[in-house]
Amino acid sequence: MLLITRKMPDAVAARAAAEHHVRALDLVGPFDPDILLGALEGVDAILCTPAERFDASLIAKLPKAVRVIGTFSVGLEHIDLAAAAAAGIAVCNTPDVLSTATAELALTLMLMAARRAGEGERMIRAGCWTGLSPTSHLGIGVAGKVLGIFGMGRIGRELAGMARALGMEIHYRNRTRLAPALEAGAIYHEDDESFLGAIDFLSINAPGGEATRHWLNAARIAQLKPGAIVVNTGRGSTVDDEALIAALRAGHLRAAGLDVFNNEPRLHPDYLTLENAVLLPHIGSATVETRDAMGFLALDGIKAALAG
Ligand code: DGY
Repeated sequence: MLLITRKMPDAVAARAAAEHHVRALDLVGPFDPDILLGALEGVDAILCTPAERFDASLIAKLPKAVRVIGTFSVGLEHIDLAAAAAAGIAVCNTPDVLSTATAELALTLMLMAARRAGEGERMIRAGCWTGLSPTSHLGIGVAGKVLGIFGMGRIGRELAGMARALGMEIHYRNRTRLAPALEAGAIYHEDDESFLGAIDFLSINAPGGEATRHWLNAARIAQLKPGAIVVNTGRGSTVDDEALIAALRAGHLRAAGLDVFNNEPRLHPDYLTLENAVLLPHIGSATVETRDAMGFLALDGIKAALAG
């Protein structure tokens, strides 16, 4: 029996039903582990999402029959991998298939933040537009600017290719320097200070988890050039919200584009007050093609794990 925590795309749900007996929880909103624990009778596999936290205490309570957790995400920070391994539970995720979609969304946020697209849309919908003005809603262009990518994995490299096509120069920070063929001319920085001081746009594409928790804090924001733009399609935990909000308010940062937040879906309420913050509801991978591909890949992983 496969337990599916949230509603899946139709094609994914159909394939799951063809391959397994399925119990669909159709959870909505914040995760209550007790609901999951109460639905595990006969279950040997779970298809979850990043909205469900499988910490060590939840994993310890899973019945012995559960042999695999497949997550509908590339991110794995919501699953305690060591605890799963100790319990003999395999874990699989959905790398690669969402890289282009997520990079496209990072680019969308960069352009929206740079060109004040959210503000303009809100103004029109509020019925406040008084007509074209040579001085209203002046943003900045991206051509000729430097994009700094924090986390030059598959998504970061896709974004680099797209941004290069728009005339941007690419700099990056990563755990290790990439081979020249993967760098494709991007400039590697060995420390945060030289990286942050060199860039006009910062895109966070690193995984979440303890290693990157609150990496973008007040000290690092201060190292960004005045007027820099920050975009995050990685994980909300990489950003110290108070520090980012203060810098957006003070004008040290021109704008931010955020698709991920601490405590989703209950984001820091002050973001809602900031005209220079573009806010999206964690839709980096949300294209029809990508979400189907993610579901199929997760089902492949579950099938392989159950087959031993
Ligand atoms: C992921 O795959 O980790 C995304 O954040 C969810 O689409």
